[in-house]
Amino acid sequence: MELSTLIDILYIVGVALLLAYISVQGRKILRFLYLTTKVPGLSIREYIDVYINGLLSDNMLEEAYKKCQERNHKPYGIWVGPVFSVSLSDCESMSQVLKSKTINDKPDVLHKVGREYLGNGLLTLNGPGYRKHRKILSPTFRPSILESQLARINEQTGKLMARLRAEASDEPLDVRSLVSRHADAMALLIFAEGRCDLEALDKWVKVLHLAGVQVQMRITNPIYYWFVHKLKKSTWETERKIKAGLSAAKSALREARATRTQSDPDRPTCLLDAMAVGDGQDHLSDEEFLDEGITLLAGAAETTGFAMNVSLLLLALHQDVQQRLYDEVQAVLGKRPRAVRADDLPEMPYLDMFVKETLRLFPPIPFVTRQLHHDTKIGDLLLPAGCALGLNVHALHRNAAVFEEPSCFDPERFSPERAQSRHRFAFLPFSYGIRNCPGQMHGMTMLKIFLSHVVRNFSISPGNGLTSVRDIKVKMYFTCYLNESSLRFVSRTD
Ligand code: HEM
Repeated sequence: MELSTLIDILYIVGVALLLAYISVQGRKILRFLYLTTKVPGLSIREYIDVYINGLLSDNMLEEAYKKCQERNHKPYGIWVGPVFSVSLSDCESMSQVLKSKTINDKPDVLHKVGREYLGNGLLTLNGPGYRKHRKILSPTFRPSILESQLARINEQTGKLMARLRAEASDEPLDVRSLVSRHADAMALLIFAEGRCDLEALDKWVKVLHLAGVQVQMRITNPIYYWFVHKLKKSTWETERKIKAGLSAAKSALREARATRTQSDPDRPTCLLDAMAVGDGQDHLSDEEFLDEGITLLAGAAETTGFAMNVSLLLLALHQDVQQRLYDEVQAVLGKRPRAVRADDLPEMPYLDMFVKETLRLFPPIPFVTRQLHHDTKIGDLLLPAGCALGLNVHALHRNAAVFEEPSCFDPERFSPERAQSRHRFAFLPFSYGIRNCPGQMHGMTMLKIFLSHVVRNFSISPGNGLTSVRDIKVKMYFTCYLNESSLRFVSRTD
């Protein structure tokens, strides 16, 4: 056969294959688009409203909640840039998705953008790589390690109390950054106290907020979806700061990993130690170890900081609740100052109810997201493979059909009797299932120790402009942040 004939044949086969590919992909895309039209969506006016008042502003949380309420918490679809996402905010849908063995991946867009900052850690990984990491890291979060750190957590919280006492006066205070930095110090302590250069790790913790803003901006604002964000000068500066923080933390983690092999402790005393030990069978590679270190700090710091800050506002607004909490803590810990121990916590059921009600009204991570790889029926709706799911935990927790007067703060909702009669998937601050929050116990414990110290040391009342829960304004960049805070701290003398 002549060469020119062979080239002709190859050319024809190539074109045929390309056409076949386009036809299959085209059919897939058309089918996807067709199925998206079957999902109840937003009108043009609502889109304009959602984009202007929600996705392109700080008010996304409120706007998304409003849409869920208007739809009676039934699923609805929304195009966020080129991504079709279905919002879910009812117990049954949450249960179906979070119990599923097949819907475990993060949306493709989050996987792609998140990895630019966090690398391949639990928060961004998908597929077999994710399952391998989660299995290796599971023993890291066992209670014994946390219990060995309680004394230091108390000590650190005592330092915050001293700082607050020094600042307390008749004037209202904005303690947001003081409390957030305390939560950061806690995260660093439980992660690597004595095992790593905490100052270097702190450089990463300090820029977490910026990384959250960048990721959220790029996935929710269609203008920045592909590369346009790179054209903004402010982005270069932000990215430079994030990279500097990341690189300082990674160097410190690399060094900790290298020196650890020479001085293996008998028992892990912090998360970093436990991460290095693995699950007894497998270990993380050096690169994986760095990415998971970065990820654990990201998961721990901002979430706990927000919960601490918002719990102070709720305490101030509800004097009766504050008094009851004080009575309970005093009854368990006694009059003389002492550290909170692990066996104290089960003795303080009202503290547990208080923390849960705080996390109901203000879940630090208000959205949990997943990717559908297969067509899936959620309730009566057939959702197409390729769409993203946005599990709106903030709206779920404020569903009036489940929580009467949902915007009212009432820890009694979590009394054992009332909590027992509720749907298992009505309250999900730490999510549920294969991908739930592995640091749940750490978060709850740090919050409870913080609150025990606070109520014993101070009587807190609202400062300027804070009269009801509705005055608490929150913005979201993955994790939530308070827009403002104004509180009066009076040192207790009783
Ligand atoms: C009040 C504090 C906290 C809250 C409300 C919270 C909530 C959450 C939520 C909702 C998720 C998403 C789960 C999902 O996608 O289904 C998550 C994931 C995660 N959290 Fe937390 N978290 C808190 C504290 C912590 C702490 C202290 C740590 C570390 C010690 C931590 C580490 C992580 C990690 C590594 C993930 C990713 C899990 C995975 O995808 O496998 N979190 N958290």
